[in-house]
Amino acid sequence: MMTESTARLTALPAWQKLKAHYEQISDTHMRELFASQSNRFEDFSIAWEDLFLDYSKNRITEETIQLLVELATEGGVPEAIESMFQGEKINTTEDREVLHTALRSDVNKPFIIANGDDVMPEIQTVLEKMKGFCDAIHSGQSTGYTGKTFTSVVNIGIGGSDLGPHMVVNALKFYQKDIDVYFVSNVDDADVSETLKKVDPETTLFIIASKTFTTWETLTNAHSAREWFLRSGADEAALSKHFVAISSNIDDAVAFGIAEENIFEFWDWVGGRYSLWSAIGLSIAIAIGFSKFSELLAGAHAMDKHFRETPLEKNMPVILGLLGIWYNNFFGADTQAIIPYDQYLEYLPSYLQQADMESNGKRVTKHGEVVDYSTGPVIWGTTGTNGQHAYFQLLHQGTRLIPADFIAGIESLNNVGEHHRLLIANFLAQTEALVRGKTEAEAKITLEQSGLGEEEIEMILPHKVFPGNQPTNTLFYQKLTPYNLGALIAMYEHKIFVQGIIWDLNSFDQWGVELGKNLAKVIFEELGDGKPVATHGQSTRGLINYYKRKSPKDS
Ligand code: F6P
Repeated sequence: MMTESTARLTALPAWQKLKAHYEQISDTHMRELFASQSNRFEDFSIAWEDLFLDYSKNRITEETIQLLVELATEGGVPEAIESMFQGEKINTTEDREVLHTALRSDVNKPFIIANGDDVMPEIQTVLEKMKGFCDAIHSGQSTGYTGKTFTSVVNIGIGGSDLGPHMVVNALKFYQKDIDVYFVSNVDDADVSETLKKVDPETTLFIIASKTFTTWETLTNAHSAREWFLRSGADEAALSKHFVAISSNIDDAVAFGIAEENIFEFWDWVGGRYSLWSAIGLSIAIAIGFSKFSELLAGAHAMDKHFRETPLEKNMPVILGLLGIWYNNFFGADTQAIIPYDQYLEYLPSYLQQADMESNGKRVTKHGEVVDYSTGPVIWGTTGTNGQHAYFQLLHQGTRLIPADFIAGIESLNNVGEHHRLLIANFLAQTEALVRGKTEAEAKITLEQSGLGEEEIEMILPHKVFPGNQPTNTLFYQKLTPYNLGALIAMYEHKIFVQGIIWDLNSFDQWGVELGKNLAKVIFEELGDGKPVATHGQSTRGLINYYKRKSPKDS
């Protein structure tokens, strides 16, 4: 039964102390905080392997961090971390363990979960199958039905079966082998049609990626791809050379027509949005080769160890999670921007949208109580410097508090002219501008120096003031390698985990996507004939009937 929140979180002593502390420091400008703490950069930064996090440009003091760490402790974060790594069934509403960390664990060591099973042997079996499959494609030993080597792969999936692999394949394009990898996700026929225009049926491998193998969009796209393939002249027997599936639902994949030996298994203890480390990463492994895929896993594993073993106050994902809570729950920030100054990370914000918003976009606690505090923020962003010429105006002079993560590599992979220096100059300049701003007095001096008259200065001056005090985290990685990318993604996964624990949510279910899916099934049937409907609410009924009237009659 659903009850009003028992306010477990907001009653915690640390929460109460943070509330009082917020009252004390919320009006303090970061200029003052920097002026009063000469070691702020050293105190508020974490160096770990090839990653460096500077979180000094936040509206925090030593006391803030101390209280936030207290909140994490009182909120049970250390115990929750252990529960996840020990394979307890922390996904309570689906009665499942949460074991994506096992997928990237050391294959030579057992990973014994709470019920006593070692999950590593089955993980290893699938990894070996993936390796054999990738190697055969790369060596040309495995070919299409006419004997030609594969030149393209089309991954058909959506949500976690698309966003993770798509983001990673794009991010690691620099390392890509001589094979094109495409992603079809949207049920809009433009997606599949435009992709199929680019590939040749004789040299294309289709990967049907769906954990449940019931997802409407994916199955529809898979059917269309199969029909296109057969229409091209290939016969049914050729299908097994060109279509493989990745799923935890072997029966439905077989029923779809995928040969059992062409199915790469994963398990219900891998959440869709945490699945790129599983066989769902097959498109990644084909794109960059299996050994580089293993490096991606190794980077994530190293971050897992950091997360599990490092004290909370020096733990990157914990600190990021706590800072997010500070702004979300005390400053009332509704959004969190992710701004990679790395074109290869173009799809990181959309990947993190699902990772974060599907995990923590919840309004009841694990125990079914309605929360009395806000939970997951809206995640958004694009690459810099592009964002600077789009929405940065609002960050600099708008009315909202928008915490932002700025992410960049120290080394360029391409080293063309001065591009990278220019990129990093912008990267650093923006966070400095966001923290410092420009006072009225400073703005006036600049205007006077430009030779403007008094009247003109008076008119333009308010427009030239920047309040500053906008919080940012700066994250550097040495170079965008598979290993560092693995670590970066795992860092965000764990940040989301920390927040979910503090908000007392089950971050591993996604019941919120069901209602719309079910309604779509009803409406799909209703759209199938020419008759007006009398069902639904006024607006939806009106729209359905308008659509039906305006749709071209059977061509
Ligand atoms: O959008 C809901 C969802 O279930 C996601 O959690 C999941 O990643 C996506 O659909 C795709 O699901 P599947 O891999 O089962 O096709």
